[in-house]
Amino acid sequence: MNVHALAKRPLVDEKDAAFAQDVIAGLSQHPKQLPPKYFYDEAGSKLFEQITLLPEYYPTRTELRILRDNGLKIAATIPKHAALVEFGAGATTKVRLMLHQCTFDAYVPVDISGDFLNDQADKLRKDFPDLEVYPVTADFTTPFALPPPVSDMPKVGFFPGSTIGNFDPHEACAFLRSARAILGDGATMIVGVDLEKDEQILHAAYNDADGVTGKFNSNVLVRSNRDLGGNFDLSSFVHRAVYNRERHRIEMHLIAKKAQTVRVLGRSFVFRAGESIHTESSYKYSLERFAALARGSGWSPQASWTDPDQMFSVHALTAAH
Ligand code: AVI
Repeated sequence: MNVHALAKRPLVDEKDAAFAQDVIAGLSQHPKQLPPKYFYDEAGSKLFEQITLLPEYYPTRTELRILRDNGLKIAATIPKHAALVEFGAGATTKVRLMLHQCTFDAYVPVDISGDFLNDQADKLRKDFPDLEVYPVTADFTTPFALPPPVSDMPKVGFFPGSTIGNFDPHEACAFLRSARAILGDGATMIVGVDLEKDEQILHAAYNDADGVTGKFNSNVLVRSNRDLGGNFDLSSFVHRAVYNRERHRIEMHLIAKKAQTVRVLGRSFVFRAGESIHTESSYKYSLERFAALARGSGWSPQASWTDPDQMFSVHALTAAH
């Protein structure tokens, strides 16, 4: 290879270009930040699955309980012969529950990771032989087209897990508006939303005793080292999750234990001792504040359900005219 070819060779794979751009931009900001979507490579997705099983992490099991306990009422909000469109597709436990409780003609899982999606789709086809499954590989936060076979079916959006809580309020509004445009007039949307609660419960859920959340958090540094040629020393950063009461959100940070300089993609980033990288916000809503957000984003709240301890909520919305 000659010198010119070498000079033109990109520093990262095409698949990592957006990650590279976001890491450089995020570490150049004050305060430093990294987008939470980069937690979820294969290792990060496995760590997240482990989080959902932790005794302190109530959201997953509580949402499942709400979906199970209110199956008939949820089914009553859903039109017959509809297509269920799931925004982001991780573990299929919740969608399987929906498919058992309500009768759908089609299921459209939408996720950026095509391999994972097709794998899950094959398993669902086997278990629900009457269901048409049309996976769509796309970033669900940007506009995408629904598969033509579902175009005449009523649409039901499904966005469980309080993933909406990982968006800042203006991003949550933009997402709901985009979902409204994709699903069209007459659509229904079922959304899982974590509720505000005692700070100690939140603190424990995001600072678990086994340190799994800490590993999940620092996975973004592991990924930067692996995919972007970074040299983060993992033992020089510590996980911290704090509740920001004014902004109704848990914030996850990686705190530099000492002053240091880190190189990523040939650039240097200087850290003071105690300086933070803000890696995730997890917003918590009251029922009213979420209903107001939905109303301001093109949806009419129809019903909501919670568990007896009011830890988590599931909302049924219909597209507003
Ligand atoms: C995916 N998301 C809703 C999780 C949350 O609770 O905000 C991600 C997570 N972060 C730390 N623990 C779990």
